[in-house]
Amino acid sequence: MLTLKAALEEATATIDRVDAHVLMAHVLGVNRAYLAGNPMRVLSETEGARVDMLVARRAMGQPVAYLVERREFYGRDLRVSPDVLIPRPETEVLVEAALARLAPRASCLDLGTGSGAIAVTLACERRDARVTATDSSEAALHVARGNAATHACDIEFLQGSWYGPLAGRRFDLIVANPPYVAAGDAHLRYGDLRFEPAQALTDASRDGLDSIRAIIAGASDHLAAGGWLLVEHGYDQGLAVESLLAAAGFRETASIADLAGIPRVAGGKI
Ligand SMILES: C[S@@+](CC[C@H](N)C(=O)[O-])C[C@H]1O[C@@H](n2cnc3c(N)ncnc32)[C@H](O)[C@@H]1O
Repeated sequence: MLTLKAALEEATATIDRVDAHVLMAHVLGVNRAYLAGNPMRVLSETEGARVDMLVARRAMGQPVAYLVERREFYGRDLRVSPDVLIPRPETEVLVEAALARLAPRASCLDLGTGSGAIAVTLACERRDARVTATDSSEAALHVARGNAATHACDIEFLQGSWYGPLAGRRFDLIVANPPYVAAGDAHLRYGDLRFEPAQALTDASRDGLDSIRAIIAGASDHLAAGGWLLVEHGYDQGLAVESLLAAAGFRETASIADLAGIPRVAGGKI
């Protein structure tokens, strides 16, 4: 007979305490407060086996978000799978910058939508916005469509490379969190990144900026007059991205920092 308390003690011998609580709560379908209040609850054989399996996978490094198939982003619960990047808190900086520039009934394009984190958030926060989202990965779009349905968002999803499926179309705002890790960057070999889709993390360019270059280069053909482009970038790419925006003729450029004061979003107005 395995109690919740004993199962948690066993799990924390191999994985982080918070991770153990999250996995246990997931298996039992309860919140974490329940775990503290019910230490003597007895796990069924099936529950015990599921906990063992998830703890073993976590011990091998698999991301908690993939194990519980969930990640919170901007206060909403999103489904994630190994087909999509796990949404990051830094990307909320991009969302805030976008919301500050989104006029009533504006059209908005999210390039490389992944789980749909940005598109779904913008569509939920501004129910009058017309949101389009693209990704080259059909598997990612499947996850994004599911998240849009869960949150009752009406989003147009299109598959293709950057502006490929958008010939002749213009938007008031374009946002993107593209892959920006440089080829061979050591970070790709550590933590959650080892399990995330390679094409979500890196475009394999030497400086990690090829996707951002393509997005900036194509923006003038897809922005309405006075429209904004906002791009998330790596912690050390801010100056390079601002230069690319200026060279592409953006009239106003902006650099937006995260809570640690590190520039993570650059943008410009056409
Ligand atoms: C860093 S992830 C961002 C996902 C999501 N927007 C977020 O912020 O959590 C980059 C996304 O761009 C997509 N992507 C990569 N190359 C692409 C391309 N050439 N055209 C369109 N999407 C692309 C990947 O499939 C991935 O979903």
